[in-house]
Amino acid sequence: MAGQPPATKGMSLYDIQTPALVIDLAALEYNISKLAGIVKAQGNGVTLRPHVKAHKSVEIAQCQIRAGSTGVCCQTVGEAETMVEGGILDILLSNEIIGQGKAGRLARLAQRSKITVCVDDAAQVNDLSAAATQQSIILNVLVEIDVGAARCGVLPGVPAVELARYVAAKPGLRFAGLQAYHGAAQHLRKPAERAEAIVQAATLTRATVAALQHAGLACDVVTGGGTGTFGNELVSGVYTELQCGSYALMDADYQKNDSDIIFKNALFVLATVISAPTPGRAVCDAGLKALSIDSGLPEIHALPNVVYQTASDEHGTLQTNDVSLAIGSKILLIPGHCDPTVNMHDWLVPIRDGKVETPWHVARAR
Ligand SMILES: Cc1ncc(COP(=O)(O)O)c(C=O)c1O
Repeated sequence: MAGQPPATKGMSLYDIQTPALVIDLAALEYNISKLAGIVKAQGNGVTLRPHVKAHKSVEIAQCQIRAGSTGVCCQTVGEAETMVEGGILDILLSNEIIGQGKAGRLARLAQRSKITVCVDDAAQVNDLSAAATQQSIILNVLVEIDVGAARCGVLPGVPAVELARYVAAKPGLRFAGLQAYHGAAQHLRKPAERAEAIVQAATLTRATVAALQHAGLACDVVTGGGTGTFGNELVSGVYTELQCGSYALMDADYQKNDSDIIFKNALFVLATVISAPTPGRAVCDAGLKALSIDSGLPEIHALPNVVYQTASDEHGTLQTNDVSLAIGSKILLIPGHCDPTVNMHDWLVPIRDGKVETPWHVARAR
């Protein structure tokens, strides 16, 4: 169980115990309403199912639902359990699971919520079917196809049709469509590169939908897209649903994408300068255990001349250059990668007008 939150409602931002994850509520609300508005304005029936793996928070998911999404994507059964507990009634597990333990947990959720899950192998289908029949529920199943990401997914075309046929014949399961998520395209820096990757993905997906229809298998859902490419899937004519996640919080890596659509940084690690041993160097209390550096080191908000140089477990070493950063100073760090950074914390501390609102729990169970 999570310990005490690092702050209480009404406290000033700068009184929060650090390192702490803080959310700029105005920026979060802007991002959520911006993407909801873009999808709605397109008016072609494509819907947004935000991915909650970035924030793992029921409160943020509910904000996304209020903005018009009918459901959310989760990446783990634990996230799905938290969302169902929080009253969200339409969940896509945009991932594969194997084994009776996980399949049983997912099937139990289907007694309270609409549940859809991805497969790319008959072994997963067998486990899901057994769990669904045992719980007397129906699980909706998407066949995941590999459209260029080289992660999960069967090949588009015949292998996808064969697996879909296998799903459709299994008790307790309903074949619902395809997942065609192109993760490798999300951080291609140039818009033309991202557009080209999704044109190729959409071509493979369209051909697979046609092959399914030819085999008599209705493909109601084609889901994919992320913060980097959603504009391309949105106009592809084949995707019916978008799965963007990072857009709500953003991070330093996504801000490096060249894009016309600007989302704001809503996620920060608040840190304290705990040592300033020599001119030009300061050390803060947010290191490897407070932020993820897999996609690059954090940037320092509003202090462009201060550089986060190295991270060790509980230290971040800063090159301060001409900036004076006294011991006790608070700084806001923009993490390189939002998802794994959030996963290091038990609490998100929402801030409005410099004051803390009631902290939100981060659901880290798998
Ligand atoms: C299957 C799937 N869908 C959607 C997303 C969301 O992508 P993003 O956070 O880049 O918007 C991810 C992220 O890795 C993913 O793995």
